[in-house]
Amino acid sequence: MREKTLLLIKPDGVVRGLANEIKRRVKTADLKIIGSKAIQVSREQAKELYSVHADKPFYAGLIKFITSGLIVANVVEGEAAIVRLRELMGATDPREAVAGTIRGDLKEENIFTADKAIKNLVHGSDSQEAAARELTIFFGGKNEN
Ligand code: RTP
Ligand code: MG
Repeated sequence: MREKTLLLIKPDGVVRGLANEIKRRVKTADLKIIGSKAIQVSREQAKELYSVHADKPFYAGLIKFITSGLIVANVVEGEAAIVRLRELMGATDPREAVAGTIRGDLKEENIFTADKAIKNLVHGSDSQEAAARELTIFFGGKNEN
């Protein structure tokens, strides 16, 4: 099934100048980027995005990290785009992400922010429900399937 999903290039990816390289990998994997914009995430958007993690010990660090600088928000479209983008991203912990994945190939030595959030370059929606919800946070109501 053709799907739309949200890809965020997080502040570590933008600061390290990797936004274009990450987008190139997405396109090479035969996924389309049909919307892309650099934005500063507001506290409200961050809390909405990470509401499922509100009780985690790394939550405060996560909010601080995602709001720490510009991100690039992308609408990615393609056949089975949700799972295929997640595969291309690699494991959440870059130390476990295999070669050929974005997190595996582009990880840096120190994977933690000062506030103990894992720096892993990208975010991708993990289900159809999450994709619809998260696309609305960053692209208004226009991108639901
Ligand atoms: P994402 O939501 O960013 O696509 O990543 P994910 O599904 O692979 O990871 P998830 O479990 O949803 O966690 C969201 C983000 O929180 C940070 N994190 N830090 N310190 C820690 O143990 C820890 N665990 C997760 C990461 O930035 C992760 O992407
Ligand atoms: Mg997640």
